[in-house]
Amino acid sequence: MISQNSIEEVLGTAKVDEVIDEFVSLKQRGVNKIGLCPFHNEKTPSFTVSPAKNIYKCFGCGKGGNSVQFIMEHESISFPEAIRFLAKRYQIELEETNVEEIDPEEKLKKDSFYIINDFAKAYFQKNMMESQEGKSVGLSYFKERGYREATMKKFGLGYSLKKGDHFTQTAVEAKYNIESLRTLGLTSKSDFDFFRSRAMFPIHNLSGKVIAFAGRTFSTDKKTPKYINSPESEIYNKRKILYAMYHAKGPIRKAQECILVEGYTDVITLHQGGIENVIAASGTSLTIDQIRLIKRYTENVKILFDGDAAGIKAAMRGIDLILEQDMNVQLVLLPDGEDPDSYLKKVGVDAFSTFLKDQAEDFIFFKTNRLIDEVGNDPIKKTRMIKDIVDSISKVRDTLKRSLYIKECAKLLDVDEQILLGESNKSIRADIKQKRLKEEYATRQQQRQQQRDSGFEGLVEPIPGDQEEQRDHSQPNKLVINDDYQERDIVRVLVNLGDKIYDEEQKTTVAEYMVINYRELIEMIDNQLYKSILKETIEQVDAGTEFKTSYFTNHSKEEVRMLATDLQMDPYHYSDWDGKSLYLQTQKMPDENFIKDGLNSILRLKERKFQRTLKKVDDMILGEKDDTQIINLLKTREVIRKQLSEVRLQLGTVVPVSF
Ligand code: CTP
Ligand code: MN
Repeated sequence: MISQNSIEEVLGTAKVDEVIDEFVSLKQRGVNKIGLCPFHNEKTPSFTVSPAKNIYKCFGCGKGGNSVQFIMEHESISFPEAIRFLAKRYQIELEETNVEEIDPEEKLKKDSFYIINDFAKAYFQKNMMESQEGKSVGLSYFKERGYREATMKKFGLGYSLKKGDHFTQTAVEAKYNIESLRTLGLTSKSDFDFFRSRAMFPIHNLSGKVIAFAGRTFSTDKKTPKYINSPESEIYNKRKILYAMYHAKGPIRKAQECILVEGYTDVITLHQGGIENVIAASGTSLTIDQIRLIKRYTENVKILFDGDAAGIKAAMRGIDLILEQDMNVQLVLLPDGEDPDSYLKKVGVDAFSTFLKDQAEDFIFFKTNRLIDEVGNDPIKKTRMIKDIVDSISKVRDTLKRSLYIKECAKLLDVDEQILLGESNKSIRADIKQKRLKEEYATRQQQRQQQRDSGFEGLVEPIPGDQEEQRDHSQPNKLVINDDYQERDIVRVLVNLGDKIYDEEQKTTVAEYMVINYRELIEMIDNQLYKSILKETIEQVDAGTEFKTSYFTNHSKEEVRMLATDLQMDPYHYSDWDGKSLYLQTQKMPDENFIKDGLNSILRLKERKFQRTLKKVDDMILGEKDDTQIINLLKTREVIRKQLSEVRLQLGTVVPVSF
């Protein structure tokens, strides 16, 4: 236990603005400092820090407290852990009573996960530096790549042995829990080491704790995956993490620029060369969470593309999303066949830095120039190109910047500035209109849903006379005023992938998995056609019939056949009413994302349902006079609220930015 004295010392020493400043970019605003709230997504800062009062408060999401509270929430750690964290930061020596006895809060699973990963990291490092095999395979590999020992240490690089279970044995002997080893993906279900004969790259969170590993193979066999990664766990959400952000956040803030590269090795080579404001998205897609994470430190992003950037078109589309976050995006195209790692080694740091400076091109101009090359003199193509460029420019919120782009692009494209301006205003208006329409739909739908939801747990009498209820459900393409997109998406996954194996061990199919997740929603499905398909699938699963996707394309009802065919032919269908923000996330690995998309649709549908019900119960509480009834309602409310937060926890927003 940490003594009360020590706790008070920490609380008295830790300055809330200093502590927070390491995680959030703060700007002075009068006597306070403000920044973008790290606890919810926002575009204009409402996160306020009062150095005088030594507290923070977000006027957007309501979170607030002192420095310890901040660290607890931000790092998802317990109170004693937060105290230790701050004590370390301020070099305060803690008085601890009963040091032998482990603080009960430390038994928290998360804490133990960090401890295990830390152990694993040390183990892999020791393997590499001390064992014969590690030295001759791992260490010499990194040395050959030009890494100095200090660099290896900084990034915690290590080596996993060939032998099947050496790590697991060592960890179990050291009394680490085997179940946790499995959860963290260090040990396989059959108790072998997950990482074998691989170069090990620990992945750290923002405060430097190891949350996962990536292991690179030494084999050149094409069939061996180049990297394998720890699975997601309570401490690792790959969509929210950027590789090396822990090491790069300081330099990024200082340089007021973030360099984004593709690979772990690119990051490490650049850091070793002294270019330390570098991170990687470690994988193929950049999420909105990651974009916002970068934005906490800087608004300037420089993206380095390999010379053979085939996916540059897809990337350009994704970059609009970074622009929407009011960030400045520059691109650098490396010479053919080079990646940052190889090119830096080839030309040296100075030439490399100069190259970045000289070649960096503002994204809008980069796009314009590339399209000009592509389009040539074809007038139809040129019109389309102008629209495309204008669309990107309209994403820029800053009016001054926008007009500058218009001026410059008008010159590049050799068109009248007024034309571009007119087009851009049109595009902005269209965006606004679309947003408004969406909101209107949502409100109408919410009202309608509230009425329909009123039967929830038998609490409210249904309100009769809901006209929307009578509309023609058999026409999926009618003006959409309900949860059509989510509903269709669930069906889409079913008829495309229902027969695929979801879990190898249990031999469950995707259809079975989906049914588990949507069964309780079935009566809420608005579209009767979708509902009939989903119902039939439940029946089949319950009866133990083997699910075949061909069942629906061969269905006796014509409308079912047609829908199933449509969905199978065009699985990447865009939603009718909002092609912009609800386009499918499916990009590189359709199968995997498909399932995710389907599950997300189920979750989104649940979220809508619970949200409306919650509102309804709130209204009832306000109107209720009877105390016993109020207590009952409050209990119900709590149940729904828990369900809602559970669903929200499971939900994430993924935005594709492909490399
Ligand atoms: N990646 C992955 N799984 C793969 C291949 C790549 O997760 N099978 C991710 C890794 O984050 C990798 C990045 O994509 O760092 C870039 O891939 P690549 O350039 O192939 O790997 P490098 O890390 O650059 O490795 P090397 O320099 O040894 O080729
Ligand atoms: Mn590479």
